[in-house]
Amino acid sequence: MPQTYIERILRAQIYDLAKETRLDPAPRLSRRTGNQVLLKREDLQPVFSFKLRGAYNRMRNLTAVEREKGVIAASAGNHAQGVALSARRLGIRALIVMPKTTPPIKVDSVRSFGARTVLHGDSYDDAYTHAMQLVAEQGLTFIHPFDDPDVIAGQGTIGMEILRQHQGGAPYAIFVPVGGGGLIAGIASYVKYVYPQVKIIGVEPEDAPTLYRALEAGRRVTLKQVGIFADGVAVRQIGRETFRIARKVVDEVILVSTDEICAAIKDVFDDTRTVAEPAGALSVAGLKKYVERTGLKGESLVAIESGANINFDRLRHVAERAELGERREALLAVEIPEQPGSFLHFCRALGKRSVTEFNYRYSDSHRAQVFAGVELNEGESERQALIEQLKEKGYPVMDMTDNEMAKLHIRYMVGGHAPEVTNESLFRFQFPERPGALASFLSEMGRRWNISLFHYRNHGAAYGRILMGVQLDAGERREFRGFIKQLGYPCVEETDNPAYRLFACGGSCHE
Ligand SMILES: Cc1ncc(COP(=O)(O)O)c(C=O)c1O
Repeated sequence: MPQTYIERILRAQIYDLAKETRLDPAPRLSRRTGNQVLLKREDLQPVFSFKLRGAYNRMRNLTAVEREKGVIAASAGNHAQGVALSARRLGIRALIVMPKTTPPIKVDSVRSFGARTVLHGDSYDDAYTHAMQLVAEQGLTFIHPFDDPDVIAGQGTIGMEILRQHQGGAPYAIFVPVGGGGLIAGIASYVKYVYPQVKIIGVEPEDAPTLYRALEAGRRVTLKQVGIFADGVAVRQIGRETFRIARKVVDEVILVSTDEICAAIKDVFDDTRTVAEPAGALSVAGLKKYVERTGLKGESLVAIESGANINFDRLRHVAERAELGERREALLAVEIPEQPGSFLHFCRALGKRSVTEFNYRYSDSHRAQVFAGVELNEGESERQALIEQLKEKGYPVMDMTDNEMAKLHIRYMVGGHAPEVTNESLFRFQFPERPGALASFLSEMGRRWNISLFHYRNHGAAYGRILMGVQLDAGERREFRGFIKQLGYPCVEETDNPAYRLFACGGSCHE
């Protein structure tokens, strides 16, 4: 089997459109993992992903009649752009069927290469079925995103480049993201033929384990549902040809969580100052997990940074989750007594750790539930130790770090109206951010006033921002104002802000 693929890969003619991308050292990741980590920079292709290689190789091999009739593809992303750009270069008409849910940025990009687009259905499967109908009706040639020998061979050119570029013999292992399997089949065919000892390790999201499940079952399985965070690899079934190859040449498949992918996007950013898409950073997440599990040291490891087509607005979510993925943040639901000073006590119970988030809203006169984020320096073990410490100090604690619903929704929903809270005034503060800043703010607040609402999220910016509700009698307002002035932090009173009155105000709003 590999022999024919070796020939196809060696014959692939793609370099008048696709680039030979760099194999860049990743010094930070190398230091952290104790191995030499190299990134194969497929994000530097003209369409910001490797998909151009396979699509262009396939389309260069079309017959004159096929070229005349034109091509069709079904895709919501990177393959579509690869086909569209290749079609423009070859002067072939291209029609791309995309699900209606495709982000406009990707539809626009495909159109900008001159391809026609049809928006159909809600998922890739709907788009695929419609594309097949058009193939039958119009005699167009379908360009498969992965399950095609020419596409696999085009992706295999990456393996050829890695072996040529890698200094001092072969790398120890190559980590490859897996969707339909074209990329891993191509790379593995070439690399295993030349150096059978090089480990080829597939990486998939936990919620899209297409190859993992197929290898486990010994046959292709169709997953009922796949997570779409790493949209580039959100495929429900591994290809027929790609699976035939993968089961012979893939050593192992590693599964990673969404948070681990976000942490890997940050790792890639830290080393290259570029932003990978989730599927593009998958290999780095797998590499880190592999090193952690095996304790591997001093070896040369290659990760395929496969693409960078990420919508800017997703970065907020990525940044939020990166620390959790590194196990550098714990999210805890903690019950504290509803009385002045109990906030401060709790902060002190956390020791010297930085608080990353603090959400609280008065609920009854005895107890309060706080949603808190705490920075960790030693990951998992420190989190368990912290929870034990808090319990010993009498705080009922629930660990929310792996609670997806809490992370996505509840943390932002803590609060609401609190009809029992009387005489509440609302203030917005800004203070210079540094370790322990929150605790010192609270200790300066003293125990004089009852805090009835609190929202704080450390965004890594120079200034920490707090929204705080305080219960003040008419006679106390002047004293409180004086205290704020003395604190010296910029502060704005927000008690009359309509957003507060609509969504969060205490009973006094309605008096
Ligand atoms: C960025 C990115 N990485 C990885 C993959 C997975 O490639 P394959 O489907 O060949 O396994 C894709 C597929 O589109 C992708 O777009």
